[in-house]
Amino acid sequence: MEPLRWGVIGTGRIAAAFVADLELTESGRTVAVGSRSPRSADEFADRHRIPNRHPSYEEAVADPEVDAVYVATPHPMHRGAAVLALEAGKQVLVEKPFAMNAVEAGEIADAARERDLFAMEAMWTRFLPHVVEIRRLLASGALGTIVSVSADHGQWFAEDPKSRLFAPELGGGALLDLGVYPVSFASMVLGAPSRVSAVVDPAFTGVDGQVSMAFGYESGAQASLSCTLRAKSPTRAAIVGTEARIEVDPDFYRPSGFDLITRSGERTRFDPAHDGHGLRLQADEVARCIGAGLTESPAMPLEETVAIAATMDQVLAAALTPGR
Ligand SMILES: NC(=O)c1ccc[n+]([C@@H]2O[C@H](COP(=O)([O-])OP(=O)(O)OC[C@H]3O[C@@H](n4cnc5c(N)ncnc54)[C@H](OP(=O)(O)O)[C@@H]3O)[C@@H](O)[C@H]2O)c1
Repeated sequence: MEPLRWGVIGTGRIAAAFVADLELTESGRTVAVGSRSPRSADEFADRHRIPNRHPSYEEAVADPEVDAVYVATPHPMHRGAAVLALEAGKQVLVEKPFAMNAVEAGEIADAARERDLFAMEAMWTRFLPHVVEIRRLLASGALGTIVSVSADHGQWFAEDPKSRLFAPELGGGALLDLGVYPVSFASMVLGAPSRVSAVVDPAFTGVDGQVSMAFGYESGAQASLSCTLRAKSPTRAAIVGTEARIEVDPDFYRPSGFDLITRSGERTRFDPAHDGHGLRLQADEVARCIGAGLTESPAMPLEETVAIAATMDQVLAAALTPGR
């Protein structure tokens, strides 16, 4: 199969990590980059030896040598850039969170479905070997009935009002940037919650700085999840079932390992080898799906991505904030 030809939109931190990781795979290569500024496009292209550089996103998505567009802008620009690419007939991989809310996420999904094009949220964690193995164990029933899921994602960020993490106009806030990982992890195990409650405290710019979530499911299972921009947290995850539990090592959302511990205490270790950042595995999945004629990944389908966005909408709507 010919390698998928990627065009990258945005020249920031994660775009650089994705392009570097693509060099570790045979499934695709970066052929083009688009930036809001010609200088950034040139600098990025020179740094990563990318042949085609474009001084606008419009020109990048129109590049006939591009098969698939990777959207790596701040989240408020995801919907616009993804739809732009789909309208130009390109397949899309859109950074997490897929969009700012469920309505926007649904608009991207609809634009892809209308054109029979592939679209996926770049929830790269789903494709890491330890998570693939967790899904296999879940499907095998090894854990019994799932009782609870827990996961946390806290990172320390300097209080800079211009930082993407804190600026409201750039989609700042803990939930969409960090909390999306625990919420997506719980969704992978338990689906969409039927009850959502949350405690949210604002950061100094007013965006959500710290969020604790409790979800209830029709099955009787529960999830307790949290995220914060104020400190590095353990970044562990656990899935507890009636027969066994899984304890994922820190950082659960990156290449990692886990223990499977049965009710009687028998422990099995899973510690896969990893190379690179781990981002290339989602690129492999995009290439595999497109090669197989699929318009969605079975491991990260659009319906679930939209449901995850809806759950995060519910978290912010249900939030107990100071003074409420
Ligand atoms: N998968 C992961 O592990 C991971 C990690 C970090 C971030 N992310 C996600 O990736 C996205 C980008 O994050 P990042 O950390 O790479 O951000 P970043 O370093 O700030 O880069 C974002 C890029 O988007 C473009 N952009 C378009 N409109 C912009 C605006 N109004 N202000 C600033 N930049 C704008 C810029 O490129 P041009 O000027 O060249 O157009 C900029 O370089 C976010 O949605 C984030 O959640 C994912």
